[in-house]
Amino acid sequence: MCAVNQQSALLANLKIIVGSEHVLTGADVRARSTHFWDASPLEALAVVRPASTAETAAVVRTCHAAGQAIVTHGGVTGLVDGNRSNSQDIVLSLERQRDIESIDTIGRTITVQAGAVLQSVQQVANDAGLQFGLDLGARGSCTIGGNLSTNAGGLSVLRYGMAREQVLGLEVVLADGTILSSLNQMLKNNAGYDLKHLFVGSEGTLGIITRAVLRLRASTPAIETALLGFERFDQITQTLACLDQGLGGSLDAFEVLWQPFYELNTRPELVGSTPPPLAPNYPYYAVVEARGADTSRCKALFQATLEMAIENNLIVDAAIAQSSKDRSNIWFVREHIDLALKHDPVFVYDISLPIASMEEYIRKLQACLEDKWPGVVLYVYGHLADSNLHILIAPPAHKELTSEEKMHWQSYSNSLVYEPLKELGGTISAEHGIGLLKKEYLPLSRNREEIQMMNLLKKTLDPQNILNPGKVVSG
Ligand code: LAC
Ligand code: ZN
Repeated sequence: MCAVNQQSALLANLKIIVGSEHVLTGADVRARSTHFWDASPLEALAVVRPASTAETAAVVRTCHAAGQAIVTHGGVTGLVDGNRSNSQDIVLSLERQRDIESIDTIGRTITVQAGAVLQSVQQVANDAGLQFGLDLGARGSCTIGGNLSTNAGGLSVLRYGMAREQVLGLEVVLADGTILSSLNQMLKNNAGYDLKHLFVGSEGTLGIITRAVLRLRASTPAIETALLGFERFDQITQTLACLDQGLGGSLDAFEVLWQPFYELNTRPELVGSTPPPLAPNYPYYAVVEARGADTSRCKALFQATLEMAIENNLIVDAAIAQSSKDRSNIWFVREHIDLALKHDPVFVYDISLPIASMEEYIRKLQACLEDKWPGVVLYVYGHLADSNLHILIAPPAHKELTSEEKMHWQSYSNSLVYEPLKELGGTISAEHGIGLLKKEYLPLSRNREEIQMMNLLKKTLDPQNILNPGKVVSG
């Protein structure tokens, strides 16, 4: 059979498994975007939408027999091209597997299909008087399967840890179509290797997550939020220590914004006539949030702890939310990234480095970039308490840049951002993963033996290299 005949035989088989209306081709594929941040038409041989684990396994088995590459799609909100496909790939979308199957309020677990949207899981947990410990800006679109396969971080890592720490059990379809059901519900289970951790953070290269048992926490309906202004970096680190200690375990978020990011997100063109929570002239800002069970106790403790930090000259200015509207105005300034991402070109980073080295690192980076691109803007913000910063580098707008020139600029910027991290013990990817965009820089953060082990795992679990080929490791 020629390749075209093989492809039509494959598509015909896939239609038998999932129904022909769930194998999209041609214009139906191109009507989709490449991903959330890239509106260019999706490229794929077909988008296949299985309705269950059994159908997913049958699709994978059929692709395995044909040596067919599969790229799995959840909410496609990633930032490292981890779900990029080409015209010969099958995109396997989990959009028909969104069910929240069961909730156990005594054991505090929730069992969901991988296509369940994060916000819907949060909602069901809240409705049951409990809470899910993962939260991030893309909550309305991203899926649990995507959160787990990328080991997402987000806004509450300080208190609850990354996605890896919210998962107790997984069901995974392996590259040959085997269903590995490991739906453990126990907080403790040391019976041999903990296989789920092979798949969490593997970005769809070792298996396709289809269901998960997630851990739930006690609910924290009392919420206190403030925006803080600082003159000096050391005031931030001292305030973090002061709040962490003073709030007795209820500090939920500690997000820091360098001034250019704050100024951008408080511009009238974005927020209209709503005045910014604080004037845009402090070098640094922090969004801090405490959450607890009892509103008056949480409020009293939050205010007393902030007052202590103000008296000790750590915090220079503060706006404490008095309503849920105030709270969303404060969070908007932190969560809105679209304006910075619209800059052309813009180079996006997600790095970790020791908190104590951040001020100097950013200052040096700014100086090096200024040498090359006078007027360059660095939008720096992120999860400082987790040692994680996001940096969006915006050289002066340059519409006529060819794609080759853009790549050259990107790699220049990459080397300035990444190279100092090795010596500092940091990492080139804190919470976004490797995907395609960061693959060539992996050796800066993982040693030869680590990368050899990653390649060995890939070869063992996916010897034909059909699962998200080319992402993370070479395969
Ligand atoms: C954020 C995403 C980009 O924290 O990770 O805004
Ligand atoms: Zn982030």
